[in-house]
Amino acid sequence: MIDVFKSFARKGLFLFDPETAHGLSIAGLKTGLFPACRPAADPRLVQTVAGLSFANPLGMAAGFDKNAEVPDALLRLGFGFAEIGTLTPRPQSGNPKPRIFRLEADGAVINRLGFNNEGHDAAFARLTARAQKGGIVGVNIGANKDSEDRVADYVAGIRRFASLASYFTANISSPNTPGLRDLQARDSLSALLSAVLAARDTESQKLGRPLPVFLKIAPDLTEEGMDDIAAEALAHNLDGLIVSNTTLSREGLKDQHQAGEAGGLSGRPLFEKSTAVLARMRSRVGPDMPIIGVGGVSSAETALEKIRAGADLVQLYSCMVYEGPGLPARIVRDLSKLLDREGVASIRDLRDSRLDHWLSVKV
Ligand code: FNR
Repeated sequence: MIDVFKSFARKGLFLFDPETAHGLSIAGLKTGLFPACRPAADPRLVQTVAGLSFANPLGMAAGFDKNAEVPDALLRLGFGFAEIGTLTPRPQSGNPKPRIFRLEADGAVINRLGFNNEGHDAAFARLTARAQKGGIVGVNIGANKDSEDRVADYVAGIRRFASLASYFTANISSPNTPGLRDLQARDSLSALLSAVLAARDTESQKLGRPLPVFLKIAPDLTEEGMDDIAAEALAHNLDGLIVSNTTLSREGLKDQHQAGEAGGLSGRPLFEKSTAVLARMRSRVGPDMPIIGVGGVSSAETALEKIRAGADLVQLYSCMVYEGPGLPARIVRDLSKLLDREGVASIRDLRDSRLDHWLSVKV
C-alpha cells in the first residue's frame, strides 16, 4: 500500500519545493497513520555492533529528522535504527531559502541547510517523552555556526543527551557550516576526540552503560587526510566511523542546471565515492572498528555492497525522497532474499568480501 507513493504521492509531493515537501513528510509521519511495515524478523540480519543489538543493518541517516520529531515512526517503517540531528546547543535558522534542490535525472539532492534545528532543549523534551519506547535512536551532534568554542558545543551535546541516546555521532563533516570540516585536521580532531570521549566516559560511568561515539566524516578527503583520521580514531579508541556525509564534488551529473547550486551532494551519484572512501577507512582502521556506510544507498544490492566494502551497518536518506516510505522495508526484505542466494548464516559473513575491489576504485 505504501508503494502507492511512487505513482501518486510522489507526484503530489514533488509539486512542492523540496523543503516544504520534507515538512509534509514529517507531518505525515507524525500523524502515525502510516501502516507499520516492519519486515519479518530475520536472525541473519541481527548483529551486535558497538555493544548495541541491531534487528537489521539499515538506519535512517541524520538530517531527515533533525529535531527528533519522528524517530519511532521511522523505526515502524522498518529501519533497524534512526539517527536524529544534527543538533546544536542553541536553535539556529540555517542558511537562506531555497537551500534544498532535487536533481531528478540523477536521483540526487543538493542541500546547504546549514544545521537549521530547534536546538538541544526542544529535542531533549521530545526524546524524554519517548524514552521508554526502546529501539535504537542515535543522536547526531554539532556546533552552532557562531559558536566561540566548537569543541564545547559537542561536549554539551554528549552531556545533555547521554541518558537518552543509544549512541552519539559527532558530525564534523557538513560542508554547510564554514570551517566545520577543519575539525577533521589531525590536531583539531585529536583535541575534539579527547574532550568528547572524556565527557562520554564520565556520563557512561554515571549511567552504568556504554555510550558509543561515532565520528561522521566527509567523502572529500585526501589519502593523507584519511590516514590522519584513522590514526586519531585508533589512538583515541573511538567506537566507530560513519562514512560519509555529502560531497562537494559535482562529477558525472546529468542535471547541469542544478549542479551549480552550492552545498553538499547526496544520493545515487555519491554511492561510488563514499563506498571507495569507506573501503579505504576499513583497510586503515582494521577489522574491529565498527563502520556505518552511507551515501547513495537505494536498494538491497547497494546496501549489501557497502557491507562488502567494509561496513557493519548502512544508512540512507536521499533515495527515500525518490522511492518513498516503503523503501526501508523493501530493502530489508530484499536483503533477506540476497542472503538466501548467498547461503550465509549471517550478513556479517559478507563484510569485506569486496574490499579489494573497492580499494581499487578511484576516489
Ligand atoms: C543531510 N545529511 C546530514 N548529515 C548530518 O550528519 N547531519 C545533518 O544535519 C544532515 N542534514 C542533511 C540534510 C539533507 C537534506 C540531506 C540530503 C542530507 C547527510 C546525510 O545524513 C547523509 O550522510 C548523506 O545524505 C548521504 O546519504 P544519502 O542521502 O546519499 O543516502
